[in-house]
Amino acid sequence: MQTKEAAADTADRAGLDGPTVERWKARVAAERQRRSPPEGFPRLPELAPGRYSDPAFFELERDALLRRGWTWAGHVDQLPEPGSWYESDRSGSPILVVRGLDGTVRAFYNTCRHRGAPVARGGSGTAAGSFTCGYHGWTYGLDGALQAVTDPRDFSGLDTARLGLVPVRCETFGPFVFVCEDPAAEPLARFVEPMARYLRHLPLESLRLVHRRTVEVTGNYKVVLENFLEAYHFRLLHQKTTHRIFDHTGTNVHLWRNGHSMMLSPHRRAGWIDPGAAGMPEMSGITDIERDFNASYSLFPNLILPFSSTGVPGIAIWPLAIDRTRMEVLWFAPMRDGERDPLWETRIANFDRIVEEDVEFVAPIQASIASPGFRGVPLSYQERRIYHWHEALDRRIGTERIPAALRVTPLLDDWTED
Ligand code: FES
Ligand SMILES: [Fe+2]
Repeated sequence: MQTKEAAADTADRAGLDGPTVERWKARVAAERQRRSPPEGFPRLPELAPGRYSDPAFFELERDALLRRGWTWAGHVDQLPEPGSWYESDRSGSPILVVRGLDGTVRAFYNTCRHRGAPVARGGSGTAAGSFTCGYHGWTYGLDGALQAVTDPRDFSGLDTARLGLVPVRCETFGPFVFVCEDPAAEPLARFVEPMARYLRHLPLESLRLVHRRTVEVTGNYKVVLENFLEAYHFRLLHQKTTHRIFDHTGTNVHLWRNGHSMMLSPHRRAGWIDPGAAGMPEMSGITDIERDFNASYSLFPNLILPFSSTGVPGIAIWPLAIDRTRMEVLWFAPMRDGERDPLWETRIANFDRIVEEDVEFVAPIQASIASPGFRGVPLSYQERRIYHWHEALDRRIGTERIPAALRVTPLLDDWTED
């Protein structure tokens, strides 16, 4: 069975064309009017507290999401020229991302094939054609090939062709670099497609990396992440910010395959223009969706991209430990040239204020999670993106590997748009 909602959106495969824009706007209008969840929507069982506190479950999550899944690993602007490189430890392994002499972006384990030292150190840089390991001097090309070893007379018969840096899957979506440590994973393009189709009309390649900072918080990464999957908290947590601008009662949710989702929040006042964005160039190709709404996409598992017509903030959320999380706060925008307009200082600061509000409850919630007072998480209809995310997590882990008491019951298939 497919609900009417899901069936209608099957027609959206083409992307955000005119009729789809109108259909999405109509759904927001209907959302404002509804008095209850739609007929047939299931009651969502509580999420088990152990999903936030069980160390064995946390290891399953890390393995499924970071080791075997595609994860965001940067922006092509971090690799401006052949030889540009940076290190990424987001997946838990030391990974070297590098632009080759042919312009291709590749990733390798930053692990010398001799005795495992890092071949690149210092975070980022530009290599003049090769990397030389700082331990004993083995040298690798930008394509990972082992070019030379020190004192070759002592390594007679060494099969250098077999001893290149071990490659890591590395593919791009627009200007975004993704890596995946699982050689058998599906191609990135296929993984992101259920969501990416709605961004196809936008010149993603033109989005420059305007800003990036990291912040660490005490709390399980899902406490941070789930906050960005609902608008239910706008009214209290963002009383003086987001709540003044967006009407959460009109927020319409889209659930897509592979755990991706989106919420579309209408501006409270029709025709409202963000004063903080005044004077900034708009992306070409935008529709009413980017202009008149906050279209907050979530690329499973941990990249939040709330699109506006003039720029896209990004929040990437990384589990460091079961109770420790790193957030990357990012901004991407269609800048006219390489120089960042001074207007951005205010815009970035405004957004930082909202992010600060967003993390206000993370540490206290974590304290609750560690206590016997945390008994489970009942989710409402408007919080269904969170349940959908957890369903996707269990599928990624493999349900049979999860203790029965911690599993979520899959209920939202019929509410997920194809
Ligand atoms: S560990 Fe790299 S050369 Fe020895
Ligand atoms: Fe928020």
